[in-house]
Amino acid sequence: MIIVKTAEQIERMRKSCRLLVEAFREAERLIAPGVRTKEIDAAVEDFIRSRGGIPAFKGYRGYPASVCISVNEVVIHGIPGDQELREGDIVSLDMGVVVDGYYSDGARTYPVGPVSEEKQRLMEAAREALSEAIAAAREGNRVGDISWAIQRTVESRGFSVVRQFCGHGIGRNLHEEPEVPNYGQPKTGPRLRRGMTLALETMVNAGTHEVEILSDGWTVVTRDRKPSAHFEHTVAITDGEPEVLTLGL
Ligand code: MF3
Ligand code: CO
Repeated sequence: MIIVKTAEQIERMRKSCRLLVEAFREAERLIAPGVRTKEIDAAVEDFIRSRGGIPAFKGYRGYPASVCISVNEVVIHGIPGDQELREGDIVSLDMGVVVDGYYSDGARTYPVGPVSEEKQRLMEAAREALSEAIAAAREGNRVGDISWAIQRTVESRGFSVVRQFCGHGIGRNLHEEPEVPNYGQPKTGPRLRRGMTLALETMVNAGTHEVEILSDGWTVVTRDRKPSAHFEHTVAITDGEPEVLTLGL
């Protein structure tokens, strides 16, 4: 069942999303060659808690950190640790917070200093696909319209979409119905209604769409070890323009 939110519930989600955007501001100040990914995670966790929020991912199904930090060929769910960022890397930060019982979820991929032209085009494709996804997130459309908007944007640029992981509904839980795949057919799937809230997330690989999970049980990497990029916004369906609740991320 897809849970439709009241205006009051959406206002609470705005609060959660606003704190999340501020947490991104804190995190991105630290992105530089030589920084260990666990340092970013620690700074973000402190910041979120200092503002009265709860990191949404820590402890979720046993995930050990507050931020998923995924470098280069890591697609999603990279676990922060001793790894140091290096010039030429692309690094995706994925995080969520809980404020007053409501979840927010967002992700963005950043360059560490100058990066290759392929990595730049990859990030741009993932960002553009998310913006096309948001444009399709309108009352009366269907989930498949969002999926198709993502797939066509990515594949027309010669990249591939990850198929094993999806966007999702979000609200009082991190993951609610519906699933929002990054590939699919227009005019298929559940109908979108005002008051639905979705975490739309584009996961885009430079090479094959195939992924593997490493032995830590979390880290998702591309099978060909080519780079991957990830962008995500929490969005509300309205009677008009979609509202990007994580605006500014
Ligand atoms: N944005 C991801 C998602 O929606 C992050 C979840 S990581 C986890 O699934 F650790 F919380 F599982
Ligand atoms: Co998500």
